[in-house]
Amino acid sequence: MARSQLPLALLCLAASLGAQATGTGGRKMVGVYELRMGDFSVKVTNWGARLLSLVLPDSKGNLADVVLGKDTIAEYVAVRSGYSKGNATAYLVFEKAAAGYWEASANLAGGVLDGKVYHLQRNDGRNTLHGGGRGFRKIIWTVKEYMPYGDSPYITFYYRSFDGEQGFPGNLDAYVTYRLSSPYTLGVHMNATALDKPTPVNLLLHTYWNLGGHGSGDVLGHTLRLFASRYTVLDEDLLPSSGRIAPVAGTPLDFRAPTPIGARIRHVTGGKVVGYDANYVIDGEQERMRPVARVEDGVSGRAVELWANQATVQLYTGNWLNNTKGKDGKVYNQYAGFTLETMGYVDAVNHPEFPSQTVLPGQEYKHEMVFKLSF
Ligand SMILES: *[C@@H]1O[C@H](CO)[C@@H](O)[C@H](O)[C@H]1NC(C)=O
Ligand SMILES: *[C@@H]1O[C@H](CO)[C@@H](O)[C@H](O)[C@H]1NC(C)=O
Ligand SMILES: *[C@@H]1O[C@H](CO)[C@@H](O)[C@H](O)[C@H]1NC(C)=O
Repeated sequence: MARSQLPLALLCLAASLGAQATGTGGRKMVGVYELRMGDFSVKVTNWGARLLSLVLPDSKGNLADVVLGKDTIAEYVAVRSGYSKGNATAYLVFEKAAAGYWEASANLAGGVLDGKVYHLQRNDGRNTLHGGGRGFRKIIWTVKEYMPYGDSPYITFYYRSFDGEQGFPGNLDAYVTYRLSSPYTLGVHMNATALDKPTPVNLLLHTYWNLGGHGSGDVLGHTLRLFASRYTVLDEDLLPSSGRIAPVAGTPLDFRAPTPIGARIRHVTGGKVVGYDANYVIDGEQERMRPVARVEDGVSGRAVELWANQATVQLYTGNWLNNTKGKDGKVYNQYAGFTLETMGYVDAVNHPEFPSQTVLPGQEYKHEMVFKLSF
């Protein structure tokens, strides 16, 4: 029950991709793992250390899976690695699920570190998005520990990134842990240690949420509160090229007071398609756990409160979803889900005015998220 079997052909395909990605020639298996506490459960996979589902009741006791996704790992594997924002058919959203490496939401094609220029694998025009064509979301992680039941079920994935992977310098040990606790709380812990060279690290969770249940329609009626008074001004490539940080006051980005996501979405400007794809600076002290956001769906009564220890959060409203095949025969259209991706400053490696995301050898990067669900 906890671990479903996947078709052999898929396992072989995935295993061979993994072997290439790790450069070890070792074979690893892709699996689906469940963590359960009564009527609260999640499924994750070591293919990209992804969150596949999160099930909980609503105020009437009806269970629903509140994250978007695909039915099989084969469909995640099949998602092409390139991005083309002008090409909705090629803009494949689910591959962005778990972890990006070197600048999350968007970044430049390379950077200067220790006086040396690094050229990264470009997968989004001139940019490296979500860690490159084969970022951490496209590799097979090792299941380090797995405790499916009990007071605090958890699973830990591990990956060693090699020097030069997608253009990034140095070997890096990375871990992602998913942990359930009472009541209806999901903790996600990511850490990484640079082994031999300084390297920028900016991992994120790209889960799409719909508190009414995935495939139940759009999230425009969800009420969002963001604990963020400022945002990083992004250019049309979603890069903070000006380095400018501006107040949200008086803009459609202002969610300091709880506001329906759809209330001002038509007034958001700058993107190639209408919707939110904005990077906020979270109020408060950067490395402390503090509230980031609270989202509530009045229809189901479900709510999620996110806490994290990161500097920024990307709000994305699934603007490019369009007739996208999802789980359980559902189809996802524009605004079918929202993401709240906590992370460090985007493209910090190219912006000395931003706090650094570079991890020196022996240093540790630590990213903690807590999702407190209720209904
Ligand atoms: C859009 O994506 C499709 C499917 O991957 C591809 O065949 C087509 O060439 C792309 N068009 C452009 C303009 O990039
Ligand atoms: C990173 O997380 C893993 C798994 O939770 C843990 O075993 C390891 O000690 C952590 N690394 C550091 C340097 O704290
Ligand atoms: C969705 O795709 C259809 C067909 O390709 C296109 O006509 C429509 O404009 C798209 N909608 C959005 C919101 O991109």
